[in-house]
Amino acid sequence: MNIRELIKQRQTENFTLHEQYLNAQMVNVLKTIGFDRHYVKAEGPYLFDAQGECYLDLLSGFGVFALGRNHPKVIQTLQQVLTSDLPNLVQLDVSLLSGLLAERLLTITPNGLERVFFANSGTETIEAAIKFSRCATGRAKIVYCQGGYHGLSMGSLSATGDPHFRNGFGPLLPDFIEAPFNDLAALEQALAGKDVAAFITEPIQGHGVRIPADDYLPGAADLCRRYGALFIVDEVQTGLGRTGKLWAVDHWGVEPDILCMAKPLSGGFVPVGALACRQWIFDKVFNRMDRAVVHGSTFGKNNLAMAAGLVVLDVIEEEQLVENAACLGGQIIADLKALVEQHEYLKEVRGRGMMMALEFSEPKSLSLKLPWKMLESANKGLFSQMITVPLFTNHRILSQVAGHGMNVVKFMPPLTITDRDRRWIVDAVSDVVADAHRVPGAVWDFGKTLATQAMRMKAKAN
Ligand SMILES: Cc1ncc(COP(=O)(O)O)c(C=O)c1O
Repeated sequence: MNIRELIKQRQTENFTLHEQYLNAQMVNVLKTIGFDRHYVKAEGPYLFDAQGECYLDLLSGFGVFALGRNHPKVIQTLQQVLTSDLPNLVQLDVSLLSGLLAERLLTITPNGLERVFFANSGTETIEAAIKFSRCATGRAKIVYCQGGYHGLSMGSLSATGDPHFRNGFGPLLPDFIEAPFNDLAALEQALAGKDVAAFITEPIQGHGVRIPADDYLPGAADLCRRYGALFIVDEVQTGLGRTGKLWAVDHWGVEPDILCMAKPLSGGFVPVGALACRQWIFDKVFNRMDRAVVHGSTFGKNNLAMAAGLVVLDVIEEEQLVENAACLGGQIIADLKALVEQHEYLKEVRGRGMMMALEFSEPKSLSLKLPWKMLESANKGLFSQMITVPLFTNHRILSQVAGHGMNVVKFMPPLTITDRDRRWIVDAVSDVVADAHRVPGAVWDFGKTLATQAMRMKAKAN
């Protein structure tokens, strides 16, 4: 098999193949919003299409590409693994590379975390955290946050506070209790019965990029300790430098009992997840020889994933990516914040490091209010597409809407972007947001098309 030849021969068949054999709705979405490009090459923060156009990727594969795409050092390390005839997944053995990655991770995770469990994805680390918490405390209940996201397997989904993902998949797991994010009084109420195994939250909610008040996470950690619940932080998206600190909890000096990480640890090549926790929790789960494999996964700890993790940590340090995320990310946020004063639709710009959001809301002036209402009545959150679509089609910037039914546009650039990319982002956003304030105008012609499509879809669904 010559995979290069195969790709070359069938380069443009991706949409038809997906229409025929995979999720055709995804193809519908891409075609509807005009995101149906044939990408043929990727390098760092850039994607290139068949016409040679270069796109700046502010989606980063939902946060996977902290190092950018196809990082040469990661490739070199993975090639070494592939050509070294290493024993892999022996199972009745303990591998060196997983030991080395665990050792390395525990030098950089928050104080008190002394053991590592490896999985193959973010959601698997959450599943492990839920099981470990129940086993360690002997309690069943899990408290999670409204609006939070922890993955789509059954346990993670039961802790995900977004009806969009939950609807249609019930019944979910029992004993999962929702509490509003950023509300210590509500959390205390949920924990006060002293029957909760763990409270789980993202330090900054990925959906909507919601940043808690400064007292929330330290207060939550205190409450967990007071009521005997474990404090699980989900750093699957925020971890490893994304927010301008190695861990988002470092912004608030919080020490969790369990920390979950995944996406960027893969280097963008090999799926991986890791959970770091306190020793006593591990000891409760793996408490006897006959329970040595009581939780695990066949592909966990595989050599390629472990090597990817090791080289990713090297690159983060060598290229000072956490510092770049803090400095350049902070600058982009500041530049974008300056636009709020000038544009009525733009309500707020917020973020930490390379995790940032622009929130849009109903304006005061009548000439802008009416078109806003037209879009919102067709579909809540539709306005945000008036930003992401022209960012893509006019400025070749790939970005996303931060969640369902919200007018929040989210940027998660690779941590490697440069000052030239900062200017690309700021100039493009200035242009697109200004354009959206020209009513009537070309953008609003597109808005009308969006609204008509949304109405048609609604009518079809009814
Ligand atoms: C905060 C958070 N937790 C968990 C997950 C699930 O990770 P995965 O998609 O690798 O299962 C995600 C994925 O987006 C995430 O953002």
